[in-house]
Amino acid sequence: MTVESELIERLQQLLAEAKAAGVEQALQPILKRALEDVAAKVSGVAETSSLIEVPGSYGLIGASAAMEQVFELIERVAPSTVPVLILGETGTGKELVARALHENSPRRSKLFLAENCAAVPAELLEGELFGHVKGAFTGAVANRDGHFVAANHGTVFLDEIGDMPLPMQSKLLRVLQEGEVRAVGSNKTVTVDVRVVAATNKDLPAMVSERNFREDLYYRLNVITISLPPLRDREGDVSILARFFADRLQASLGRSVELDAGALAALEAWSWPGNVRELENEIERAVALSDGVIGREDFSPRILAQQE
Ligand SMILES: Nc1ncnc2c1ncn2[C@@H]1O[C@H](COP(=O)(O)OP(=O)(O)OP(=O)(O)O)[C@@H](O)[C@H]1O
Ligand SMILES: [Mg+2]
Repeated sequence: MTVESELIERLQQLLAEAKAAGVEQALQPILKRALEDVAAKVSGVAETSSLIEVPGSYGLIGASAAMEQVFELIERVAPSTVPVLILGETGTGKELVARALHENSPRRSKLFLAENCAAVPAELLEGELFGHVKGAFTGAVANRDGHFVAANHGTVFLDEIGDMPLPMQSKLLRVLQEGEVRAVGSNKTVTVDVRVVAATNKDLPAMVSERNFREDLYYRLNVITISLPPLRDREGDVSILARFFADRLQASLGRSVELDAGALAALEAWSWPGNVRELENEIERAVALSDGVIGREDFSPRILAQQE
């Protein structure tokens, strides 16, 4: 056994011990980095990723206390059929959580269908969700199932639920309460069994008091709430996520991508108004600009300006 492989083995042991002792949150980033360094020297770039255990769950990266709470909640509510409302600023991972709920439920072999209520004009949204019959409106040349029928026994994710027009909110309430849908232009109801997960970054209670969102629907959707913390409140996660995105790019580009200490410090200091999406884009941009080792100078001016 070479000195290097002994070192790797010892670091992996330490990582496991840290985990068993429940202190991996503090130690894992340090040990992981040491492991990466040794592994990179021994076996070159290609093999390092497989040695690294990325902290997180359900395809969501994070080891902060705030995210641990989210993972626990996902674990507890995924198996049931109750509606879940996911709240959080833009880019905090609401859609990833919705998928995680589906993938970790008994419904995983059925469809997960997502609809962005803000992106589709109201006339079309109704047909998308509830289906339509031939001739119901111009362009409806054949009968078509909506998401609630297509994803029967699966999950429908309603993104930007705060933008759902009021008349459609009544139809949605009916699905939630009676499990019944009626296609546009039809007088027949169909019974469905669909789990509804909704997300928004709007203030729904304020919309309820302004009468722009149905109160009964709000309570029905909001049986369980998962609130995603903004990235700036997830202690330590910026570095973990930055390395995760860099490793992923490294694997897809087939060339070495590293972040130096100054780069990580600059990222940790920024407030990330666009949350994880902003960080993901920033790493991609820096990788495109750098020659392999990303330094703080590779980041956008707004990120550098805060420290000068
Ligand atoms: N914890 C995480 N680990 C890894 N990737 C993440 C995480 N959270 C978010 N992402 C990535 O960040 C991007 C934004 O996530 P997502 O689309 O789920 O956010 P969102 O809350 O739905 O945003 P918006 O409100 O703008 O729709 C995606 O590319 C997603 O894969
Ligand atoms: Mg989204």
